[in-house]
This record gives sequence, C-alpha cells and structure tokens, in this order.
Amino acid sequence: MPYTNRNLAHALRADRGLMHPGTLLQGDTMRDRLIVGLDVPTLKDAEKAVRELEGTVSFYKIGYQLAFAGGLDFARELVSGGTKVFLDMKLLDIDNTVAKGVENIVKMGVTMLTLHAYPKAMKAAVEAARGSELCLLAVTVLTSMDEQDIIDAGYEYDPHTLVLRRSEQALHAGMGGIVCSAEEAEAVRRIVGPDMAVVTPGIRPSGSDHGDQKRVVSPAQAIRNGSSHLVVGRPIVAAPDRRAAAEAILAEMLSA
Ligand code: C5P
Repeated sequence: MPYTNRNLAHALRADRGLMHPGTLLQGDTMRDRLIVGLDVPTLKDAEKAVRELEGTVSFYKIGYQLAFAGGLDFARELVSGGTKVFLDMKLLDIDNTVAKGVENIVKMGVTMLTLHAYPKAMKAAVEAARGSELCLLAVTVLTSMDEQDIIDAGYEYDPHTLVLRRSEQALHAGMGGIVCSAEEAEAVRRIVGPDMAVVTPGIRPSGSDHGDQKRVVSPAQAIRNGSSHLVVGRPIVAAPDRRAAAEAILAEMLSA
C-alpha cells in the first residue's frame, strides 16, 4: 500500500515520540544545506580541507575512507567544535548488531547516520536511537547504480521504483530521512512529506566530471526538486580551490 499522505510522517513521529533534528530547521540557510564529503585518504588531508573551507562549510560527511584512517575521532573533534557531522556508515547487519552500533554512534553526537533501507535494520536502528537527536537516513539506491546494476544485484525493480518502495518503508519504520538521487527527490518528497530530510549525493555542477556517479543532478535542480541537503564530494574536495568551488555551488543552490 503506498503511503502518500503528506501528514503521515508527522503522525508516525508523534506516535513514536521521535525527533528528527537533521531535517531543516527554521532559520537554516543554504549553507546549512550543503554537506561536504570528506573523502580524503588521511586525517591531515581532512584537517586541511576543513581549514580551507572554514566559514564557508559547516556540515561534513565522513565515510569509509576517512573513518578507517582516524575519521571517527576526527568526527568527535568536529562535533565538539560545533560542526555538524554526517556519518556515512551505510550500516546493514542483524538487528542486534545494528542496534548496538547505533547506541554507540548516538554517544558521538553526530547529526546524521546512514543505513541501508532494509525494514528490519531500520526498525532496530530507530528503536536504538529513540529519544536521541540523531537523524537516521535510509540509503535507498546508490546514485552510482543504474537499471542494469540493480538487475545484476538481483532485484526486479528499476531504480526509481525501488527508491520509492524503500522510501515508503523508511517512512513507516520512523526514519528521519532518505538518501536518493536528486532525480528522485520530487517523487520521494511526495511520499515522505515536508518534514523528513531528503539528502541527495550525485551532485554535479554543470560541465563537471561525473566520475562513477550515474544519476546526477545540478545543485540548483536538486534544490528545486525538494532536496533538504546536498552531499558534494569530489567537485569540492578535488578542486584546485576548494573554497571557490564550494562558494560556486552555494551560489548555484541560491539561484534555485
Ligand atoms: O564525490 P561525490 O560528490 O560523488 O561524493 C558523493 C558522496 O556521497 C560519496 O561519499 C558517496 O559515498 C556518497 N553517497 C553516494 N550515493 C549514495 C549515498 C552516499 O554517492 N546513495
């Protein structure tokens, strides 16, 4: 059954006493909606990127690469300095393991955490995060995957259908937001309502290299499509002038 009622997100959360502070707050500016992926090999590189982006960027994503090179302590450091952190761990395991992991991640004080949008894992994570301020994000279908990749992975859905199905399941599990391509953001918004975070990677300013990303959208279009937050990695981190690249993307977001 499709859950298309815009108020359902409200209703579900009120029932479960959940808070989703990762979603947009009143007074949030466009800067608060840009999340830079610190996809760099060493702590030194990450510190340098954060120094270069100081005053321009206030929200960072730490994923596999940096997490396995001291990035978790760096995340704690950023949090204690008042910077928001999105821990992109894309968790998936048995319920107990997911729950125990989430309990410890809650203690780190990060703002967002990803897990793959499997109903049992999502429910376990929501239970474990209950009462905390952690925004749990459901990764629907990776933006590097197209229809053939999904078929190869054993699914019978096209990416769009799978994204929408998983968004409904995430809403129902009580998750705080969805990770999807900005191509799907508009349709996802219709399912999850106005309050859940819709976080979109695969952002490419016009004329830039797509790399391994397949479902890409420009910064302005992503905002127009209803993304609450944009995740940008290489277009900023691999740029010769990171601050200028971030400012240019912010300008594109503001033009939406
Ligand atoms: O460099 P780029 O802008 O492509 O980086 C996008 C970031 O978002 C990467 O860190 C990638 O792991 C992450 N991501 C993604 N697609 C998802 C979820 C996360 O590209 N569905």
